[in-house]
Amino acid sequence: MSRVAYVAGQYLPHRQAAVHIEDRGYQFGDGVYEVIAVTGGHLVDEGRHLARLHRSLTELRINQPMSDSALKIVIREVVRRNGVDTGIVYLQVTRGVAPRDHAFPKAAKPVLVVTSRRSRPPDPRLGREGIAVITIPDIRWQRCDIKSIALVAAVLGKQQAREASAYEAWQVDREGQVTEGTSTNAWIVTADNTVVTRATDHAILNGVTRAAILDIIHREGYRLDERPFTVAEAKAAPEAFLTSTTADLLPIVRIDGAPVADGKPGPLSRKLRDAYFRHAAAAA
Ligand code: PDD
Repeated sequence: MSRVAYVAGQYLPHRQAAVHIEDRGYQFGDGVYEVIAVTGGHLVDEGRHLARLHRSLTELRINQPMSDSALKIVIREVVRRNGVDTGIVYLQVTRGVAPRDHAFPKAAKPVLVVTSRRSRPPDPRLGREGIAVITIPDIRWQRCDIKSIALVAAVLGKQQAREASAYEAWQVDREGQVTEGTSTNAWIVTADNTVVTRATDHAILNGVTRAAILDIIHREGYRLDERPFTVAEAKAAPEAFLTSTTADLLPIVRIDGAPVADGKPGPLSRKLRDAYFRHAAAAA
């Protein structure tokens, strides 16, 4: 099946799908995006993703390109035309096309792009055996709550992780507290079995997977503390893990080369991972 992309009102063969060279996303990174998982043919937590898209657009004062009900139709049509049963949907909205000038153009129309592709979930071995993270300074801007397409700091961080044979880089703020991974939220479990993750402020993205895990924690009655933690606390913690739409929940077994506890995924991380899969299989 040949791939199809939705670009500014048209369904186009993927090879021919393109945006204008003066699209403000291309020139300024002036836009926002979402990545939604498709599992067994349904969209996982679509409502939360669309709510976050609206929030990102509102914060950047970009008009919504179409109503939610129209957007849902386009998303489903792109998934259908690409024959995606398990994979992702990528949604991007930029401020539009206009002669290059930093201030907002008077008459630009937002440009919506929707693509979808099949992708396997992360190798189950990563879930069973756990992954490594490194820590790096957080050099991003001060509005990481907005899901902006300006991702060069994340690009550099993820590349640094790859070169260190790690799955992810945890970014650390000036106070020595972990903010989040380059494309994932960061979690630890303390010795008294309390799950700890940074509260949603301007320093992190309000992850949709994070929200689903919080629901599970509340439902199952696990202890939770939404607060920042340091790298030292994480290195001494019995368990650590990360979450995102594409990673699901992955246990962390090494931080900066040192093993977390005995270097094996912890029991609570495993339980939350299993519960998350049940949620993703059911959640529309
Ligand atoms: N990344 N933090 C950052 C900086 C992210 O980019 C992401 C998502 C997350 C996790 O959010 P969610 O659970 O809603 O996926 C946290 C997406 C998947 C990406 O850039 O591909």
